[in-house]
Amino acid sequence: MFIHRCERVGESLSIQFSNNNEANFSLFWLRDHSTDPSSLNPSTLQRDVETFSLPAVPGLKQFQVINNGAQLQIQWLDGDRVSEFDAHFLFNMACTPVDEPPYQLWASELQEQVPDFDFEQVTANDAAFLPVLESMEQYGLVTFSGMPSNMEATKKLLNQVGYIRDTVFGSLWDFSNNGAHSDSAYTSVGIGLHTDSTYTIDPPGLQLLHCLAFDGEGAFNQFADGFKVAQTIKSEDPAAYETLKRIKVPAHYIEPGIQLRGQHEVVREDINGLFEQICFNNFDRSPFMLSTSEQKAFYHAYGLFQRLINDPKFQVSFQLQPGRAVWFDNWRVLHARSAFSGFRHLAGGYTNREDYISKKLTLRGKTPWQE
Ligand SMILES: [Fe+2]
Repeated sequence: MFIHRCERVGESLSIQFSNNNEANFSLFWLRDHSTDPSSLNPSTLQRDVETFSLPAVPGLKQFQVINNGAQLQIQWLDGDRVSEFDAHFLFNMACTPVDEPPYQLWASELQEQVPDFDFEQVTANDAAFLPVLESMEQYGLVTFSGMPSNMEATKKLLNQVGYIRDTVFGSLWDFSNNGAHSDSAYTSVGIGLHTDSTYTIDPPGLQLLHCLAFDGEGAFNQFADGFKVAQTIKSEDPAAYETLKRIKVPAHYIEPGIQLRGQHEVVREDINGLFEQICFNNFDRSPFMLSTSEQKAFYHAYGLFQRLINDPKFQVSFQLQPGRAVWFDNWRVLHARSAFSGFRHLAGGYTNREDYISKKLTLRGKTPWQE
């Protein structure tokens, strides 16, 4: 991308890019985003400029397109300051507000294609782990094979992303059907599709489940792509979709000495209108009242979401055996487990979403606004 032409229009610079896209950049915005070392820390990219001490229309000495259109150079009146902006940066800021989604929606057709990785291979070094993160971004669901049946392996996998998130269940946890906590995970009953920790203010990003032992029948894990279900509702019942985006649903977790409370919309979009987060757990939903019409709309929309995630055509399902693990995006993929008999011992943990994103960007060598 190159700058074809740049001219001053009132309090802005108007730029025409090499693909004929045009955009206006106010002088205030340009000065606020100045790239000179006293305005922008060159290593951390933190803003050092005192934005709200700037004049409403910063004084401009001159501007020119340099390096054959690759950059715009601006000389300001204050202190002979010089800013240089890359053409692609300006283009990305002004002309690409809606990115292509990085995720690929899926339904039951993923059953035979869930990305599976060899544990030893992908944990050999940082770079070897990038394909796992790429698949996580695309599908929100990956599995691992060849894992030693011990918690050192669980920890090693979680630490590939960052530190393990501490919760009321511990940080690196293991559970069997021994009833150690109030949560139904610590039993052998079936658990319907849900996302975890809707009762927290910031539900964890990724969840790992690693099978250490299983001697019994049942315990199939089901997964559904919440983004796919959200997209289906958006297409087929836009009013229900708006309700899922609008109404915050309260949730709770109670055990002696602990009362966790959170509230979230079922579907949240990012600033570009892409799906960002699904929060759905009918089991942990708290009592709450709405107006009569809102209540009707809520039960309809929430019930529709519940029906679709429980439709087998939106699900994949498999049984974890010792040596295998499944890792999923708790902001996207709903999970469930069928009832089982016998003994089952799992280990796992959560990692924060920002740590997963950080690792992905670091391994790709990109800054966030290049994503
Ligand atoms: Fe869960």
